Amino acid sequence: MAKVTIVGAGNVGATAAHLIALKNLANVVLVDVVEGLARGKALDIMQSAAIEGFSVSVVGSEDYGLVDGSDIVVITAGVPRRPGMTREELLSTNASIVKDVVEHISSRCPNAIIIVVTNPLDAMSYLAYKVSGFPRERVMGMAGVLDAARFSYFIGEKLGVHPSGVNPCVLGSHGEAMVPIARFTTVYGVPLSKFLKDEEMEDLEERTRKGGAEIVSLLKKGSAFYAPASSIVHMVKSILLDEKKLLYASVYLEGEYGFKDVFMGVPVVLGKGGVEKVVELELEERERRRLEDAYTSIKSLIDRLEL
Ligand code: APR
Repeated sequence: MAKVTIVGAGNVGATAAHLIALKNLANVVLVDVVEGLARGKALDIMQSAAIEGFSVSVVGSEDYGLVDGSDIVVITAGVPRRPGMTREELLSTNASIVKDVVEHISSRCPNAIIIVVTNPLDAMSYLAYKVSGFPRERVMGMAGVLDAARFSYFIGEKLGVHPSGVNPCVLGSHGEAMVPIARFTTVYGVPLSKFLKDEEMEDLEERTRKGGAEIVSLLKKGSAFYAPASSIVHMVKSILLDEKKLLYASVYLEGEYGFKDVFMGVPVVLGKGGVEKVVELELEERERRRLEDAYTSIKSLIDRLEL
């Protein structure tokens, strides 16, 4: 049975652990610095096994003693946003947490694939890549699956169709410089532009860009976690089952889209080797400019990491 470690047993991490168990995908190790938290949540999840019928195990710990040999390590450790905060404002606090986590797991799980979830996502993924020294195929950030799912939901809601029939395209950063591209978005194979006017598409793009902030302002004490956890598990499943799904993730670019030495959201193929392919789309001038803005904003955060 595959083994997945999730560091950070808060809202996102524990929800992802429960989903992995419900799907019988892998044994899960939850790690959290808060005394008893990971053990308590693991025990709670295991007490649903009799009802749900899953056979994988979920265990919790305050340290890294149980994580050796994990196939995938998901990093959700960190501080979430509060109302009025940008993801970027979390940079210095979360950078020291992510660095500490990666130092522990890279020595104990040298062959693992790392999925970073902690915000600001693209900069934290870059940090994990540099600190781990892992090849670029094995370090990625979870954002595009979530941003695309949000875009799908808003489009489905507007058109009165199920969101699973919407195939959206969302590039760039997981933040204000997110670049949802309506031109490459289809609804059951039909281009979105056949259903909506330009300004309607732009409104949905804008709501997607602010999708996380909308939830933060409603929750008031933390950020979204159900859809983020589903997005993590979608990626975990594509890797563990070698599904080779084409999806959006933040990955290290080595010249694709004209960018280098940066993590940014692009379409990739995810299989047992991790990021098996980076897919390049031909962008129009306006879209390219927006991607350049995303690059600039991610780069400015990366520079602040002083790596
Ligand atoms: N090692 C392990 N766990 C840690 C560490 C650390 N060094 N530092 C913090 N944590 C744990 C906290 O104790 C907490 O339980 O990380 C957990 C984070 O959980 P929540 O506060 O519930 O935050 P959550 O909503 O899960 O979001 C986690 O994902 O979406 C992003 O912006 C979000 O960066 C945030 C992350």
